[in-house]
Amino acid sequence: MLHKTDSLISRNSDKPTTCCAARRHTRVLLVNSVSIRLRCYAGIDLKEDECNNNIYNLNSIEDKMDTNGKTEPGLKENNNRTSVNGTHCFKVLVGTLVHSTREDPMVILTDKALGVLDSKIKFVAEADQLEELQTQYGFPDSAVTRLSNRQFVMPGLVDTHIHASQFPNNGLKMDLPLLEWLQKYTFPTEATFADVKFASHVYPRVVDRTLRNGTTTASYFATAHLESTKILVNAVATRGQRALVGKVNMTQNCPPNYREDSVKQSIQETEQLITYVNNIKNPLVSAIVTPRFAPTCPEDQMTELGQLAARHSTHIQTHMSETRPEVAWVKELFPHRTNYCDVYNQAGLLTRKTILAHCIWLSEEELEVMSRMEAGVSHCPSSNLNLISGLCDVRRLLHHGIKVSLGTDCSGGYSPSILDALRRALHVSRCLTIHDSDQHPNPLTLREAFRLATLGGAQVVDMEDRIGNLEVGKEFDALVIDTEATGSPLDIFDKDKEPDIVEKFLYNGDDRNIVQVFVAGRCVVQNSE
Ligand code: GUN
Ligand code: FE
Repeated sequence: MLHKTDSLISRNSDKPTTCCAARRHTRVLLVNSVSIRLRCYAGIDLKEDECNNNIYNLNSIEDKMDTNGKTEPGLKENNNRTSVNGTHCFKVLVGTLVHSTREDPMVILTDKALGVLDSKIKFVAEADQLEELQTQYGFPDSAVTRLSNRQFVMPGLVDTHIHASQFPNNGLKMDLPLLEWLQKYTFPTEATFADVKFASHVYPRVVDRTLRNGTTTASYFATAHLESTKILVNAVATRGQRALVGKVNMTQNCPPNYREDSVKQSIQETEQLITYVNNIKNPLVSAIVTPRFAPTCPEDQMTELGQLAARHSTHIQTHMSETRPEVAWVKELFPHRTNYCDVYNQAGLLTRKTILAHCIWLSEEELEVMSRMEAGVSHCPSSNLNLISGLCDVRRLLHHGIKVSLGTDCSGGYSPSILDALRRALHVSRCLTIHDSDQHPNPLTLREAFRLATLGGAQVVDMEDRIGNLEVGKEFDALVIDTEATGSPLDIFDKDKEPDIVEKFLYNGDDRNIVQVFVAGRCVVQNSE
């Protein structure tokens, strides 16, 4: 007999799972060079053929994606986060919990028991109440995992701005300013996604990479191609990541071989993507309306996209005020609008579900409009430094009551890790203070940057009611951090207490320390044995 299974991404595929009763029950499969294993969760039995069926489903999904990249009805397979045979699935983690609240950017709770029932956090209680909790909820001993004092649980990281289609360029070609960089490197790279086979090669790797780095929720830009954008949808759905996926809208000021043919086609295909995602009925995945930025979209296109988003209640993402030449260009292109922000606002693109990447060069008036419309910002510090775009004043945005989160902006940024974005955000904030300490007397604290990476992200994607911290009732999107994992880049000493351990991880940790990644209660990455 096997136990209840979850599919996992593992770097240690050659080793047998330890929780299987017998080694022959371990299932390892290779999907795009990453081994995905079916691994046991104790407590609930699963027949071996059910385990096999799970494997075949995953295999056939990936096979189809490789060959034709077309609709994948099987994508619903990964939606099931309740246990098999209709039994509810309990997990209980005992140890240190770290998260943010609206009141406090970092709360460290020691000796706690956190219970997850199916996808949601059912209780957070004192660890010494475990026996009573067990009586109350009836979970077996095998559902309980006790963390060491060098481990902790934190909310999953939220990347509110990432170009999955620019991954082939990650770590390359950051030697030009934005507008030249787009024309010379980025548009040609994105154009290659006309080939769905290429998309099938790249997108699963992107999702594996971001998940492994602890990104439980991502807002992705794909490209202007509908069919390959569906492949990105498939990749997130099969891997169990929470994601917004956008087909990029662009009809002007971009190469003739890489643009939508017309506004009509742009709207039709964007609606087709929305339908495609809705048909998958995966509660973790949504389409997001994605006008690239004002220079590539005439006003009628932006207005129709705003109407489309309103009709389908979708999110919207775009870039705004990233560089000074871009702002000057927008002024030229839209002389009848007050400013950049007004271009988007008049088109109906500013809503509480809008993610505006960068937002560096903004007037007070623009900040007031953004705040009133409840549009959020994705601060992408790595990209802003690499492309010499500017230093975003996050404190000023927060002061205006604007929601702020972090984005990797790969491949303007080279790191797929939101931990890296967190560190760069601290650097950018310090640069502002170095430059003018009267104007910027209070650089961001580490605790505030932690909130941007987690709860701030949840606010910007308008999912604060569901994710972002470890409060009871929220979906369990979380990471188990082990500061002593194999190959850990950290050194912990006996003097280090919980706050030190958390701080050392945030500054020096990496994916080796992220030993488990949970999305909606389901373990989607397992980096340890
Ligand atoms: N503005 C318009 N397109 C892009 C893009 O792909 N990356 C960045 N960083 N800015 C943009
Ligand atoms: Fe971007």
